[in-house]
Amino acid sequence: MQKILVVDDAELNRELLREMLSADYAIETAADGLEAISILETRHAELAALLLDLQMPRADGFRVIDEMKRRGWMERLPVLVISGDQGAGVENRCLSLGVSDFIHKPFDASIVRNRVNNAVELFVSRNQLAQTVELQAARLKRQSEIIQQQAEKLRRNRYFDELMLEYRAVMMELEIRLKVLNAVFSAKYQRNPFEAIKSRLKSAASIFQKLERKGLEPTVENIRQQLSDVAGLRVICSFPDDIYRVADLLTHQDDIVVLREKDYIKNPKPNGYRSLHLILHVPVFLPDEKKLVKAEVQFRTIAMDFWASLEHKLKYKKNLDNPDEIGQLLKKCARSIEDLDYQMQEIRNRIDSAESSRREDEAVAL
Ligand code: GTP
Ligand code: MG
Repeated sequence: MQKILVVDDAELNRELLREMLSADYAIETAADGLEAISILETRHAELAALLLDLQMPRADGFRVIDEMKRRGWMERLPVLVISGDQGAGVENRCLSLGVSDFIHKPFDASIVRNRVNNAVELFVSRNQLAQTVELQAARLKRQSEIIQQQAEKLRRNRYFDELMLEYRAVMMELEIRLKVLNAVFSAKYQRNPFEAIKSRLKSAASIFQKLERKGLEPTVENIRQQLSDVAGLRVICSFPDDIYRVADLLTHQDDIVVLREKDYIKNPKPNGYRSLHLILHVPVFLPDEKKLVKAEVQFRTIAMDFWASLEHKLKYKKNLDNPDEIGQLLKKCARSIEDLDYQMQEIRNRIDSAESSRREDEAVAL
């Protein structure tokens, strides 16, 4: 049975409240504020509610409330003030101090029972929620500690360092090959097929998390064999057809092997995500050997990149009331962006053909 502490200097009131509530609760009593505080000191955690008179000798109800606030007991224990004071001023003061309810004397048995039950139930669910949140926070903290420890363990492994160096090398290799293609292409067509290259090396913590998600041990061999996106490059093009042009030029280099191609432009993901992904094996020249190293290259237009960056940020704002509606809106935006990409490409085509016929005319005139 849940316990309630009734604090009132009038014995008659204590007994009346005991009678009203003893069917549902075990009743403890205190005859003044000091006695109440001393009981709370040792047993506040056992109590489900506190019924508190205001005017009492030695220490009044406000003193008890002050003490409870100071020690953080009000957070989990509902306080219901019982008072003969009819003025709104006192009631307001109590409520603003954080008491759960205010019951006027003389008492009505059913009102007392209902109000006490309501306050107790509310606090039980509130406390449960707080406990769940606390447990979850502790679990998350523990998980992140494990990730950091495992990442540190990987970083201390000499072979891991060597492997990361290979990935850094493959990113440099690919970046230079792409830049060369950009230069050659722009000399031929008077424009750059891509706007920017971004590269990133997966952190030790993300590597560990990904291996764990796949149910794999965090070993250097597993990283090398099972992960394909430790070295990642993103090539941001102006137009969709440039994506295929640059990707083609790159994959036709005779020492590059295409391990996998995922064309999310021709087959967008259900959420609307579009990009061309290539997993490549690229030779890297190290001091005493040539090694084939894996890298993931994502090709996108500026518009696809705009959508993917925002969608990525929004995905992490998890507490959405309407995830389906947001998902639909994002998908609609993805379609508009696709239209936009092809419209811009069409505009470029028209400008290009106008330009080339002007050049032909000039050539004829000469
Ligand atoms: P990951 O475990 O995320 O690497 O997925 P995967 O190995 O199945 O490969 P996938 O081709 O699906 O995704 C590879 C990468 O593409 C991701 O790490 C993201 O950078 C990007 N990507 C894939 N899907 C989405 C998406 O829906 N939204 C956004 N913003 N990026 C995506
Ligand atoms: Mg990835």
